[in-house]
Amino acid sequence: MDFNTLGDFDFRGKKVLVRLDLNVSLDKSGKINDVMRIKAALPTLEYLVKNNAAKIILMSHLGRPDGKVVQALRLDGVGVVLEEFLGEKISKLDDCIGQSVKKAIGGPGRIFLLENLRFHKEEESNDSDFAKSLAALADVYVNDAFGVCHRSHASVDAVTRFMPGCAGLLLEREVRELSKVMEPEHPFVLIVGGAKVSGKVGVLENIGKKADRILIGGAMPFTFLKSEGISVGKSMVEDDKMGLAKSLMNGRMVLPEDFVISSKSLVKTVPFNEIPDDAAGMDIGEKTIDSFVKIISSARTIVWNGPMGMFEDKKFEKGTISIGKAISGSNGTTIVGGGDTLAAIDKLKLDSYTHISTGGGAMLEFLEGRSLPALEALGKAKK
Ligand code: 3PG
Repeated sequence: MDFNTLGDFDFRGKKVLVRLDLNVSLDKSGKINDVMRIKAALPTLEYLVKNNAAKIILMSHLGRPDGKVVQALRLDGVGVVLEEFLGEKISKLDDCIGQSVKKAIGGPGRIFLLENLRFHKEEESNDSDFAKSLAALADVYVNDAFGVCHRSHASVDAVTRFMPGCAGLLLEREVRELSKVMEPEHPFVLIVGGAKVSGKVGVLENIGKKADRILIGGAMPFTFLKSEGISVGKSMVEDDKMGLAKSLMNGRMVLPEDFVISSKSLVKTVPFNEIPDDAAGMDIGEKTIDSFVKIISSARTIVWNGPMGMFEDKKFEKGTISIGKAISGSNGTTIVGGGDTLAAIDKLKLDSYTHISTGGGAMLEFLEGRSLPALEALGKAKK
């Protein structure tokens, strides 16, 4: 790998600035929906504690506050959960730069959590002075925020110019596991679901080229089917992406042969070309599940991104559960990721995969073969 790792540094007595991706999903009341990213941060923090770092200064963003202080996006709640999992006291600070922050870190306490970086617009503009102020808080920088590595933001990019730095254990693992898919063992099956074709174009075009089979679920099939002149009733379609869908179709792509549809109070399964005008497809049907499971069972490499249907509703969760279970039962390398997919495997208690990526956009861009700005920057960081 082209960056320094934790083993390259002696952390004893050092102040360490750690970028995490604690961007968790929150419900309307501000309650944390999914703690996976918080748990994924633990190995690096435990390593630093064990290796006698003097001060461990944690930083993250939460949501998209656009350079303003948004009370609901303060990191206090995340800090409480992290403290509980880590079993070490964490002092939450009210800002991420400035004298008060420096003073607090200079005082008692060992682990500190800075306030949401995106309360300062300079974070997203990759501002050098802002990055310098962050760097001034510590001796060594650790990037363990794979989910943000596709962003050219100060805390993952510019900061690397002002202090020695390395990757944390999560970042290292993400890059190692996702890299395996760049040279996949065959048969390689790519499973793509979710709502929109437009969000998955890069993956379909790039990693899709290497796949022996591409299984399409979620709402995406309806845009493909409509582009072929097949009526899909009230199913979700991206009308402006039909040309694109047509251009992406190829003989390795497998579209569902049946769907669970919903119209008013009626829920039933119909063949793909018999969706009534007043109904919408909500999940893949039994026949599709069977044929997808068969393809999955002979795969040596599987990448899954996006649920197969509206799994949030019990009536339409079967496709996602069945496919999720089939993938977890595979003997091959199984890589799972993407915001909705993580929410699905968490809700449906599916968890046995070679690698569950914490990256949404970052995972997709990595798999598309694009260079991620934060990884490039970390590659240039000094020891
Ligand atoms: C994510 O949730 O994918 C990362 O935390 C990045 O967040 P962003 O899309 O708001 O930059």
